[in-house]
Amino acid sequence: MKMGMTYDLRQDYLKQGLSMEQTAELDKPETIEAIEMVLNSLGFEVEKIGNAAELCRLLTEGVRWDMVFNICEGIFGPGRESLVPCLLDYHRIPYVFSDPAVMAVCLHKGLCKRTVRDMGLPTGWFHVIWSMSELKKITMNFPAFVKPVSEGTGKGISQKSLVGNINELGEMSRDLLSRYNQPLIVEEYLPGKEVTVGIVGSKDQSRAIGVMEVIMGNEKIYSYEVKENYEHQVQYALVQGELKHQAIDLALKVWQGLGCLDGGRVDLRQDKYGRMTFMEINPLAGLNPIHSDLPILCRLAGWSFERLLNEITMSALARYGLEIPAKARLLPADQVSS
Ligand SMILES: Nc1ncnc2c1ncn2[C@@H]1O[C@H](COP(=O)(O)OP(=O)(O)O)[C@@H](O)[C@H]1O
Ligand SMILES: [Mg+2]
Repeated sequence: MKMGMTYDLRQDYLKQGLSMEQTAELDKPETIEAIEMVLNSLGFEVEKIGNAAELCRLLTEGVRWDMVFNICEGIFGPGRESLVPCLLDYHRIPYVFSDPAVMAVCLHKGLCKRTVRDMGLPTGWFHVIWSMSELKKITMNFPAFVKPVSEGTGKGISQKSLVGNINELGEMSRDLLSRYNQPLIVEEYLPGKEVTVGIVGSKDQSRAIGVMEVIMGNEKIYSYEVKENYEHQVQYALVQGELKHQAIDLALKVWQGLGCLDGGRVDLRQDKYGRMTFMEINPLAGLNPIHSDLPILCRLAGWSFERLLNEITMSALARYGLEIPAKARLLPADQVSS
């Protein structure tokens, strides 16, 4: 089976003059090579495509694949993660991971939290603001948290995102509005434990790999800086017991309710009463085998990187009713910890 791979290489965009921060979510060659190696070992005939521009070029030339393993984060605009899934849908080419609508809703933290709130799940109060004048019109309590509405990898998030009064909120909002060219989300500060839940599968077939606590020493916020220095500033540990069950229950309800597909992560934090609360969801979780949170969680839970990619890909094949390569079927099927 011919498996195309779409991805955004960070180095390509750095060459175009974009900054380290602007390209923070994009991938290193080592990530692509690691995924390619595993997909080959699972019995797929892998063809590296590259980014959306390369995909367009090849599609125009008439090249087709049986399926595409898509990890394009895109680079500009709120539909950047939807672009490749849209193109593949248009050409009726099956692909791994979520569809364009899910990608767009999940990238927009305000729309996403509205949807989660509509499902009756805990996500704390929040407001989306486009300008400084709107700050005066909203009702909120302090401490609050402010961040760009559709970024990832901690971009635009620092210790200053936690604001204790209206002046701090005003200062941070002015700075973020001028730097990020997008609305902000002002929301309830969640002071408790932070966990991320790794999920594989789709719809009623989705299940948790495990729940990982992100322990940050003196820093309270898993910011861009902290993520960059995670080896020195962060410890990761699997969560057990009641907290684990609460986190999995909430994460799976959010994952299934939003219609996320094949694999990803849900980020949660406890509110001031200790209740597990939804923070944000990642339908395109980082897949660097060493440094990304989902593979780190997998290692702690006893899952190899190969096992993770196998489960993700099998979920996509099953959704499209495509045949699973014989080698993939041989991997252990169901040692999930939920
Ligand atoms: N409402 C909040 N309360 C407390 N901490 C938050 C809140 N929102 C975000 N954070 C902190 O900022 C980090 C990054 O925020 P998140 O929304 O997950 O963005 P990203 O998409 O960049 O991962 C979180 O992991 C958490 O440490
Ligand atoms: Mg996050």
